Amino acid sequence: MKQVITLRVNGTEYTLAAEPNATLADVLREELRFTGVKKGCDDGECGACSVLLDKCKVIPSCTTLACEVQGHDITTVEGLKQGDQLHPIQQAFVDCFAVQCGFCTPGMVMCTKALLDKTLNLTDEEIKEALKEDAYPIHE
Ligand code: FES
Repeated sequence: MKQVITLRVNGTEYTLAAEPNATLADVLREELRFTGVKKGCDDGECGACSVLLDKCKVIPSCTTLACEVQGHDITTVEGLKQGDQLHPIQQAFVDCFAVQCGFCTPGMVMCTKALLDKTLNLTDEEIKEALKEDAYPIHE
């Protein structure tokens, strides 16, 4: 039976009915239409579905229950833009043609945001290490 949940996404509160086992990814994509959240592996491994929890922690929304994150701030890639202005990280991805096929790009952008919010003092190697799959911030 569905339960009423309230999620705060990109600064706006949404109250909706969701199955108790509904994942955050499904609710964000299917109910709230934040389709920048992508589902790749649907198993917490690829990072395509990454969102920020409380503006700093990267979490895989595909393995997070929506009901678990009530009361937290959820930020999706859509929440980074300010009006029509892309976030500097989004703009950098565009400027550097860093999208490849584009499917995992929102997750990469969110992981990059969390990383650079922690420190700007990183070498290229440290950035590569932090963003590669087996060192992905979602596994912290
Ligand atoms: Fe791959 Fe969530 S879809 S980690």
